[in-house]
Amino acid sequence: MFKYMSMRTLPLSKLNIISVSTFLVMLLVMLLNVACDDQDRSNTNQESSMAGESDASLAGMSIAGEASAAEEIAGDMQMQAGESSAGMNAGMEESYQVDLVRGEALYQQFCGFCHGDQGQGYLADNANALNNQDFLVVASDEFLALSTIHGRPGTPMSPWGDEKGGPLSPNMVKDIVAFIRTWQVEPSIIPEAPSLEGSAQRGRPLYNAACASCHGQEGEGVSAVSLNNPWFLNTVDDGFIAHAIRVGRRGTAMGAYQAPIVTEQGLADLVALIRSWSRPVDTDPPPPFTPQVDQTPLNPNGDEPSFILREDRFVPAQQVYDALQAEQKLTIIDARPAADYLDEHIQGAISLPFYEVENYADLLDPNVFTITYCGCPHAVSGQAADALIALGFPKVAILDEGFYEWRDTFGFPTVSGEQPQGPSNDK
Ligand code: HEC
Ligand code: HEC
Repeated sequence: MFKYMSMRTLPLSKLNIISVSTFLVMLLVMLLNVACDDQDRSNTNQESSMAGESDASLAGMSIAGEASAAEEIAGDMQMQAGESSAGMNAGMEESYQVDLVRGEALYQQFCGFCHGDQGQGYLADNANALNNQDFLVVASDEFLALSTIHGRPGTPMSPWGDEKGGPLSPNMVKDIVAFIRTWQVEPSIIPEAPSLEGSAQRGRPLYNAACASCHGQEGEGVSAVSLNNPWFLNTVDDGFIAHAIRVGRRGTAMGAYQAPIVTEQGLADLVALIRSWSRPVDTDPPPPFTPQVDQTPLNPNGDEPSFILREDRFVPAQQVYDALQAEQKLTIIDARPAADYLDEHIQGAISLPFYEVENYADLLDPNVFTITYCGCPHAVSGQAADALIALGFPKVAILDEGFYEWRDTFGFPTVSGEQPQGPSNDK
């Protein structure tokens, strides 16, 4: 049956393999759907073991709102032993049978509202196109899986893998990757690294002139994806980076940079400069973690804040800060996956990932003004706010500028760790 393998190992005949395996997967899905009628009980068992997968890292948080199409089939999948501790090889077991239907459902639940339902990109800022052929032909399955599991910490791209406290098991990631792969129509290639030795120092002026306006002076990303993210640099080889520069990404702002602007030497120098931004990555799993929903609201005896909302939906950071200073009563929800919260969050906020809102909302007081935020700055926070509004919460707003502007533009307080107010010493 379908073998989950890195595209790098099958550059030429890939299209055939993809279509044959897609056909096999579809056939299997059809057969299983027929069989499903008799298997309601085993589905139930399987669902509880799926919730158990993420229990290990989420300490009791269950996978919420999985699409029902996915659930129907989930019961018939073979789960791999020990899959939630797969570490760097997460998603790379050979014998897993991918499930495209579940892959699509999961993609739409967790990815589509930023990367687009067809992978067209840019629904949230800098969420690049995942259906771009110039990207897909060099992005191996491993690259896609590791990017999904580890995310790009410090950007709106969260770590989604359960080993990072996110909602996705390794097999779920494989299903999503298989779904993304269905957008590829051109054959995969193994991109060539620059043929010359590069120098980061020599690459600097060229980078400043040609690249920094979109990617940032130190590769931190401005109007385009970041290039300095340790997880990105840890996952790609020089060929991947060189290919993006040589051919660009059709239909996006990323042009093809060739001679005379970027010679073969210039290419090598740019790759060397981008490489020089590598830093060691933190491979430790986050500590087990449950949201402190009981630690709401902030300032339970304080006055009601009187926010002036933009479009009846967005609250400016300054107003939230002023309300905190005035010790007014409110609840601030960090709607991102837990790893982002543990890394750094707005002081006083609790972690309640957008896909968990329905499970924990009854522990929140609907009469308290509730603010959701994320880094994107409206996509994830908007999902959480809409979930609360749908549950009848009358006073909900989205932090307009998002987490990064709260921290970087305004310099308002943030803390790290499990505690809303910051690390506590009495543990
Ligand atoms: C909140 C918006 C958001 C969501 C939700 C999101 N992403 Fe992303 N994603 C981004 C952004 C922004 C980037 C670019 C980050 C950077 O600047 O480095 C990115 C980058 C990526 C990349 C790397 C692409 C490259 O060329 O380097 C992959 C792969 C990816 N996302 C897949 C996914 C998948 C799969 C999901 C769902 C499980 C997902 N993303 C959910 C915003 C999002
Ligand atoms: C006008 C804006 C712009 C300029 C200038 C620009 N880029 Fe890009 N670049 C982008 C965008 C947008 C993307 C992501 C496109 C997509 O796949 O959706 C990108 C993608 C990339 C990627 C792939 C990153 C990844 O995570 O997949 C690399 C590498 C890159 N650019 C390097 C460069 C270099 C080096 C230069 C200068 C020679 C440069 N870019 C100039 C906008 C720009």
